[in-house]
Amino acid sequence: MIDIHINPVIQSRFNTVDFSNLVFGKEFSDHIFIADFDGNSWGNYRIQPYGPIPLSPSLSCMHYGQAIFEGMKAFRTEKNEIQIFRPLDNLRRMNQSAERMCMPFIPEEMFMEGLKALCRIDQKWVSSLNDNALYLRPFLIASDDSLGIRPSQNYMFMIYGCAVGGYYSEPLKVKVETHYVRSCQGGVGEAKTAGNYAAALYATQIAQKEGYHQVLWTDAFEHKYLEELGSSNLFIRIGKTLITPSTTGTVLKGVTRDSVIKLAQNLGYAVEERAVSIDEVLAWNSQGKLDELFATGTAASIIGIAQLDYKETTICIAPKENSLAKILNSKLDNIKRSKEEDIFGWNEKVI
Ligand code: COI
Repeated sequence: MIDIHINPVIQSRFNTVDFSNLVFGKEFSDHIFIADFDGNSWGNYRIQPYGPIPLSPSLSCMHYGQAIFEGMKAFRTEKNEIQIFRPLDNLRRMNQSAERMCMPFIPEEMFMEGLKALCRIDQKWVSSLNDNALYLRPFLIASDDSLGIRPSQNYMFMIYGCAVGGYYSEPLKVKVETHYVRSCQGGVGEAKTAGNYAAALYATQIAQKEGYHQVLWTDAFEHKYLEELGSSNLFIRIGKTLITPSTTGTVLKGVTRDSVIKLAQNLGYAVEERAVSIDEVLAWNSQGKLDELFATGTAASIIGIAQLDYKETTICIAPKENSLAKILNSKLDNIKRSKEEDIFGWNEKVI
């Protein structure tokens, strides 16, 4: 057990929030969990009101980018219990990111107790309305007060919550990116590190000005093999087979991606994790074999791709009511909210 010092808010913001109309990433819950690493060990565990934190201008993460994060969700069940979806898988990935970025490991006890304590104190923020959930954002930043370029000695680990609804309100229009690069072999593409998201902004902004929701990244050398979308992993359905780009260093190992693979296999689909090229997708499309494209992520859930543009070619797939994306999305949502049996043991009970 870790000893968490709790300093609760005097005035909750809860009553100011319209839970029937949540915009992703805007409505932060009342508290934040914080812990410090002093070069040797973790301590100073505290929960305090969510809000600005005094930080030194020379804080190393702000200059040299040693910053990693995770995203997961807590759900309210019909029995009024609260549970977090697959937190240990996020912890595993966070520690892989930490290793790649020369940061200290996050102990399981601190991660889980921090998450649960935050969910307990902010439990009213876990709304069961519509698609709502409490998005949980653990993050780790280098906190040396120094200009030297080297792994920081000191770190801060924090977790805050954000009341969220759906991330996308319609099937996606996606541009296959053939000029800019998000990651390359030997780089940090697989790590959930802040710089990957910064690196993606420019190409995404261009695509959004052109009317797209997202870009679909391709490999850095030939711009031929498909990787991932800005906020999610990619799946392609050809009949009873699902194909998803393999995670061999340049693609984030999505927890929702893994859940989709397991659920689809359970429904009798063959799942291929492999290199998949844009040429294959174009060929499947012209042969009339391309049944579905969809994206998966914690924030995005499972969302269909209605249009994919590659250079001068447009692939359109009309969204269907009985698409596998919709079936999997509702199955996964039911599991997260305990409306369906959790056959894989994915839910971690909080209350
Ligand atoms: C998530 O899905 O949790 C992410 O971190 C992606 C981000 C676009 C919110």
